[in-house]
Amino acid sequence: MRILVIGSGGREHTLVWKISQSSMVEKIYCAPGNGGIAALAECVDIPVSDIDALLAFARDNKIDLTVVGPEAPLVDGLVDVFSAANLKVFGPSKAAARLEGSKVFSKEFMYEYGIPTAPFITFSDSNDAKSFLNQAEYPLVVKADGLAAGKGVIICKDVPEAEQAIDQIMEEKIFHEAGNQIVLEECLVGEEVSILAICDGDQYVILESSQDHKRIFDDDLGPNTGGMGAYSPAPILHYDIAREIEESIIDPVVRGMKNEDVPFKGVLYAGLMITAEGPMVLEFNVRFGDPETQAVLPRLKSDLVEIMLASIDGSLDKVSLEWDSRTCLCVVMTSGGYPGKYDKNLPVAGLGAAGKIADTIVFHAGTKKENDQILTAGGRVLGVTGFGDGVEQAIETTYRAVERISFDHCFFRRDIGARALKRIGQRAMGVNEGS
Ligand code: AMP
Ligand code: GLY
Repeated sequence: MRILVIGSGGREHTLVWKISQSSMVEKIYCAPGNGGIAALAECVDIPVSDIDALLAFARDNKIDLTVVGPEAPLVDGLVDVFSAANLKVFGPSKAAARLEGSKVFSKEFMYEYGIPTAPFITFSDSNDAKSFLNQAEYPLVVKADGLAAGKGVIICKDVPEAEQAIDQIMEEKIFHEAGNQIVLEECLVGEEVSILAICDGDQYVILESSQDHKRIFDDDLGPNTGGMGAYSPAPILHYDIAREIEESIIDPVVRGMKNEDVPFKGVLYAGLMITAEGPMVLEFNVRFGDPETQAVLPRLKSDLVEIMLASIDGSLDKVSLEWDSRTCLCVVMTSGGYPGKYDKNLPVAGLGAAGKIADTIVFHAGTKKENDQILTAGGRVLGVTGFGDGVEQAIETTYRAVERISFDHCFFRRDIGARALKRIGQRAMGVNEGS
């Protein structure tokens, strides 16, 4: 098969790496790709937003399967355009992608189908929203309805902060038309976990759990980022919680979307808060998580291409997933200054030395290759991933590889996995696990 992967980050490098292991695959293209992806796939210089050019490329190059990494082309209807042209494509339709593309849609859908999520109210007028603020409880979460590159959630401690957030989103339009509507919701407390399920419109398979680290600094301090590291599995997910997530969240979403005549195909990513009352949905995404994918897919032993084809063809009942029981951990190395301003074009040293460490893989995110030299080209530069028998060993292996890599102003968190270690330690000591 000839496969086209769309995107340019660490998630897409992981997808290309995993797809390249399938015996069904003859050639992989990636649009636009990055410096690491170029070793496994032919990179094609087409931006993810240019659906017409991607379609023309897929037709001209007889692509058998297209795999979409990021959310924006899904929300813009890439899957509908490719499907109408009789091209196989993995991911949800534009209508189904509203689970991520519109928080108003997603919250109303959850309400309708009794899926546990924070109590909420939606507004399309800023004055109406502000007049509600005196009766709200604080902290209050203010969310822009549409896509905002992970920045559309503002947690407000009092009325003036909430007024400011509403003004920024709805009046100043800092997220453009994504701020035409907003959701105000109760702030949930607990531990976050990411659950990915691959769906075929009717059936689903749930992937192994993972946990992201969204803040830039150790101990979850500082501003939110795209994700500074992840590990899989998440020790908080013992059997009972996993079953509750399937029964109260994943299953009703798949049934509900089918019932609404928008069957969900592709990756359903449930961002959850494990609260004292049980798991609750913070958000849905409609694609693989980044960097969760870098920690989850290396553990998948089954052929990902077969699973994706079963998602498209509606035959996931014939698929069973096999997993590596080891822990996999990913540490993201970023350009200094990220998530704010940072320099680019800095040479990355030590990739060869890191590559020699057993049980590690270096996934590229913001890199490019120039004259055989890898240069930084984005905020998140690399996702260094390692295996271990348990989280402690995975931490040790991964950081050993991280220490061998360097570039000017390089930054990374030193505590990826620390939360999991603490939880495992508590369990060993018999401490009650309520969040
Ligand atoms: P989202 O943009 O919906 O992915 O949300 C981004 C992040 O905001 C989540 O990963 C949480 O850390 C936080 N968040 C969103 N909703 C809530 C909530 N209701 N309570 C507490 N934190 C939240
Ligand atoms: N890691 C968060 C996301 O992929 O949205």
